[in-house]
Amino acid sequence: MCNNPLKPSPHKLISIDKLTQDEWTFRIEIAEPPNFGQFYEVSLPLIGEMPISTSGIGDGWIEMTIRNVGKVSSEIHRLQPGKNIFLRGPYGNGFSIADFKDKHVVIAAGGCGVSPVRPLIEYFYNNPGYVTDIDLLFGFKEPGVVLFENDIGRWQERINTIVTVDQVCGTWDGKCVGLITEYVKDIEMPEYKNMVVVIVGPPIMMKFTAMEFMKQGVPKEQILVSMERRMSCGIGKCGHCKVDSRYVCLDGPVFRYDEAEKLID
Ligand SMILES: Cc1cc2nc3c(=O)[nH]c(=O)nc-3n(C[C@H](O)[C@H](O)[C@H](O)COP(=O)(O)OP(=O)(O)OC[C@H]3O[C@@H](n4cnc5c(N)ncnc54)[C@H](O)[C@@H]3O)c2cc1C
Ligand code: FES
Repeated sequence: MCNNPLKPSPHKLISIDKLTQDEWTFRIEIAEPPNFGQFYEVSLPLIGEMPISTSGIGDGWIEMTIRNVGKVSSEIHRLQPGKNIFLRGPYGNGFSIADFKDKHVVIAAGGCGVSPVRPLIEYFYNNPGYVTDIDLLFGFKEPGVVLFENDIGRWQERINTIVTVDQVCGTWDGKCVGLITEYVKDIEMPEYKNMVVVIVGPPIMMKFTAMEFMKQGVPKEQILVSMERRMSCGIGKCGHCKVDSRYVCLDGPVFRYDEAEKLID
């Protein structure tokens, strides 16, 4: 009997955390944990399939933070805990944790881009001393769509964390307003040779944030980004995610910026 690599398997939905009106975190039972930065193809029978990053990794479970934007995501938002969700994966080249050992790590993430870096941040938070220094820089459109507020509050106690919103409507307790790019210069970078910068967000945000870090002296080889592309198979067979000679599903989604800049539109 041959195993069909495209066949999803059912996994029990344990709980749902409604972060904002449209972005909910789903905790799902899983036997084997993925690597940092990998993604799954998430599906419901007769509805469809979509690639989703892992926003949390624990003992016997993973979390996925899913924005309700369309056909599959809206059906997943209708599920109740106890029901099955279908997964295949994990797929892709994520972050290699060894790349961060004894480095000054800066993680800059915008909007939903905080999801794929959340497990990485938790690792550094729970393993003090693994990296020499860490700074977090998060950007959101407005106060009402700030994700992972509880986590950010906890991280802020141990990690230098800047949170900025593009614009304020309603109340905003944070100090920073403006694009994430405006706050790159506020991060102390005494020894850029020992730095690794991770940037995740919309392509335009990744491009301009990477440029700001490069202006501060960080070489593009020391910048990592995680890319989102239209995907179908997730395993390098269909060509949907192919840019030049690279398959984002196989070779990425995490790329060094010197390679990613050729792939970002
Ligand atoms: C590697 C990877 C990781 C991802 N991680 C997450 C995640 O953690 N959380 C999350 O909410 N989403 C994530 N996405 C995006 C998610 O896969 C899409 O939003 C999803 O396809 C929506 O499916 P749907 O059937 O609900 O919406 P659809 O009905 O398919 O589409 C809704 C709208 O979104 C647009 N759209 C669909 N896919 C994309 C895309 N890849 N890029 C830009 N626009 C798109 C469509 O054109 C349409 O306008 C990820 C995508 C990739 C490639
Ligand atoms: S999604 Fe099919 S080749 Fe990448």
